[in-house]
Amino acid sequence: MKKQVGIEALAIAVPRRYVDIAELAQARGVDPAKYTAGLGAKEMAVPDPGEDSVALAATAASRLIQEQGVDPSRIGMLVVGTETGVDHAKPVASHVQGLLKLPRSMRTFDAQHACYGGTAGLMAASEWIASGAAAGRSAIVVCSDIARYGLNTPGEPTQGGGAVALLVSEQPDLLALDVGLNGACTIDVYDFWRPSGRREALVDGHYSISCYLDALSGAYRGWRERALAHEVVRWGDSLPSEQLARILYHVPFCKMARKAHTQLRLCDLEAAPATQNATAAEREEAAKSTASYDAQVASSLSVNARIGNVYTASLYLALTGLMSAEAAQLAGKRIGLLSYGSGCCSEFYSGVVGANAAQRIAKANVEGVLARRERVSVAEYERIMNLASDAPEQLTPAPGEFRLKEIRDHRRAYVGG
Ligand code: HMG
Repeated sequence: MKKQVGIEALAIAVPRRYVDIAELAQARGVDPAKYTAGLGAKEMAVPDPGEDSVALAATAASRLIQEQGVDPSRIGMLVVGTETGVDHAKPVASHVQGLLKLPRSMRTFDAQHACYGGTAGLMAASEWIASGAAAGRSAIVVCSDIARYGLNTPGEPTQGGGAVALLVSEQPDLLALDVGLNGACTIDVYDFWRPSGRREALVDGHYSISCYLDALSGAYRGWRERALAHEVVRWGDSLPSEQLARILYHVPFCKMARKAHTQLRLCDLEAAPATQNATAAEREEAAKSTASYDAQVASSLSVNARIGNVYTASLYLALTGLMSAEAAQLAGKRIGLLSYGSGCCSEFYSGVVGANAAQRIAKANVEGVLARRERVSVAEYERIMNLASDAPEQLTPAPGEFRLKEIRDHRRAYVGG
C-alpha cells in the first residue's frame, strides 16, 4: 500500500494584542465598510517587538509538542517558513531548536519565498517522508511572520502576525496529502518585496492581486491536469474544482479568497466541455457564483478575519479555521489548497481530511488562544508600531510563550517557555 504522508496535527501562536478593524477605519477617516466588507477583516493582530518571528515560531512549536504529545526524538527535520526572519545567516529554525531544547540529531533550515515559504517547507518535509529517506521520522514545519506595511498606508488594514506549527508524518490525522499531484507556477515579478534592512514591505497593491490570480491559474491548471490523469477528478456534471469539498486559499485579506475562488472557477469554465459554447461574459458570471463560494470557501476564513495577514502562515490559518469549523463532517473528503508568495510562486495541492481530524484540532484549543488576547486602542497600536524593533518591552511572557528579551552584540536572547 502507498505510504500516507501529510499533516498530523497543528498548533497556533498569535500576538497578545489586537485592534478592532472598524475602529482603525474610523481613526483613518475611512468608511468602516471598506475594511469589513471590502477587505473582509474584523480584527488585526498587533505584534510588539518582543513577539518577533522567532518568539512566535517557538511558541507555536512548543504548543504543538506539548498539546499533541510529540516525542521530540522522532523529529528528523525542523523547517521554518518565514519572510520576516531576524538574521541574514542564522535561521529562525536554529533558535527554535535551541529554545525548545530539541535533539541535535535533526536537519534545521528556513525556507524563504515571501508567503510561499511555509508551503515550500511543507513540501520539502512531506516529500522527504514520502521518499523513505526519513526512515519513519517526522518533521515540524513552522510558518511564522509579521506582516507590516506601516501606519497610514493602503496595506495597513491587512497587517497581522502569528505562527502555525505543523507536524508532518506518516500518520496524517488532519490531512493526507496527494503527493505527486501538485501544480506550481513561477513568474518573475515585483508585486511585493522588502529590500534588506527595511522593516516595512513595499507593495504594488492592485498589481499584486493580478499576479496572485495569474499564478493561481497556472498552479491550478497543473494540479488539474494531474488530478484528471489520476482520475481524482473528472469532467462531468460538475467542474473539477467543484469535486473538492472545500478549497483553501492564501489569505492576505479575506476578500482575496473570494477573488481567488472566482478565478479558479473561471479556469474550469474556460476548459469545460459543457461550457465551450458559452460567451466570456456568461463564464465570468458563472465563475462569481456566491453559492459555490459559500459552500466551498467561506467556512475557512474565521481565524484569518481575526488576525490579518500572516504571510507564510495565512493559508495554514485558513486550514486551522476550516478544521475548527468542520473537521468531523469533512473526514474522508478531499480538499484543495492554494499557496501564493509574491515575487512570485504559487502552488495548488490537495489532500484528504483524516478520520481523527476533529480530535486533533480540539487539542489545539484555537478559540482559547484567540480569547486570551487583549483588545487595544488605535493609539496603543500606533505606540507599539513606533517601538524600535531592537528594544522590546520587558513584559512577562504568558506560561508556554516565548518573548525576545534583548539584543546584545547582535545576539538575540529570549525568555519564556
Ligand atoms: P485600496 O486601494 O486602499 O483599496 O487597497 P481598494 O480601493 O482596492 O478597495 C478595497 C475593496 O474595498 C474593493 O473591493 C472596494 O470596492 C471595496 P473589490 O472591488 O476589490 O472587491 N470598498 C468598499 N466596500 C464597501 N464599502 C465601502 C468601500 N470602499 C471600498 N465604502 C489593497 C487594497 C489590497 C491593494 C491594499 O490593502 C494593499 O496594498 N494590501 C497589501 C497587498 C496585498 O494584500 N496583496 C494581495 C495579493 S499579493 C499576496 O497575497 C502576497 C502577500 O501576502 C505578500 C507575500 O507573498 O509575502 C501580500
